[in-house]
Amino acid sequence: MQIVRGKKLETLEPEQFRALVGQFREVWIDVGTGDGKFVLDCARQQPEILVIGIDPAWNNLEKSSHRAAQKPAKGGASNALFVASSVEAIPAELRNLAARVFVNYPWGSLLRGVVEPQSGAIAALGSLLTAGGELELRLNYAVFETEADRAALAIPELTPDYLNGALSGAYQACGLSKFEWSHLPAADPVRSSWAKRLILGSARSTILIRARKS
Ligand SMILES: C[S@@+](CC[C@H](N)C(=O)[O-])C[C@H]1O[C@@H](n2cnc3c(N)ncnc32)[C@H](O)[C@@H]1O
Repeated sequence: MQIVRGKKLETLEPEQFRALVGQFREVWIDVGTGDGKFVLDCARQQPEILVIGIDPAWNNLEKSSHRAAQKPAKGGASNALFVASSVEAIPAELRNLAARVFVNYPWGSLLRGVVEPQSGAIAALGSLLTAGGELELRLNYAVFETEADRAALAIPELTPDYLNGALSGAYQACGLSKFEWSHLPAADPVRSSWAKRLILGSARSTILIRARKS
């Protein structure tokens, strides 16, 4: 797979990746990681976990991948890894690997993918998890509130009926049971850049969806 090292992409061979995974207690994956700050933060706090951020817009990962490679005293985290990939083309090595998968404030095809039963994104996210692993998904509810935004983004209305019916069913069909959702009306404690940009200090709420792979 292609990993980000500063301004460059490098190939990490499957056997090199397996050896790396073997050094850690478990793996967490953040899909649509953006600038990678959430991954860096998790990796610094949990040095025994390999934390992997995935995003097709890999140029935005230059700074975080550079920071990760520094010494721990300078904010480095050798347990943070950044992969250039979309949810539609996840490298096979990442399958059945993660105890936790995060998607924080997605946009574009990732946003559509996590709320559309017909998309392949839900199955792709499920495929990353180990049995018993947990998916945690945060959505900016504001974009679902008006018909104009929903039409522009090609996303459905997130009514309780839709969440509890079609969407929960789609997650279950992909092996993701115990589907639960809730509104986080106040500031989201997740430390991602877009949580800060969109939610912190605003009137916007977050929809938090959790599901567990059976
Ligand atoms: C609003 S940003 C959120 C970034 C980060 N999770 C955060 O909270 O700061 C949405 C991210 O989703 C990524 N994205 C969009 N479509 C994607 C796809 N199909 N697969 C993976 N990532 C995608 C974008 O490149 C972008 O980095």
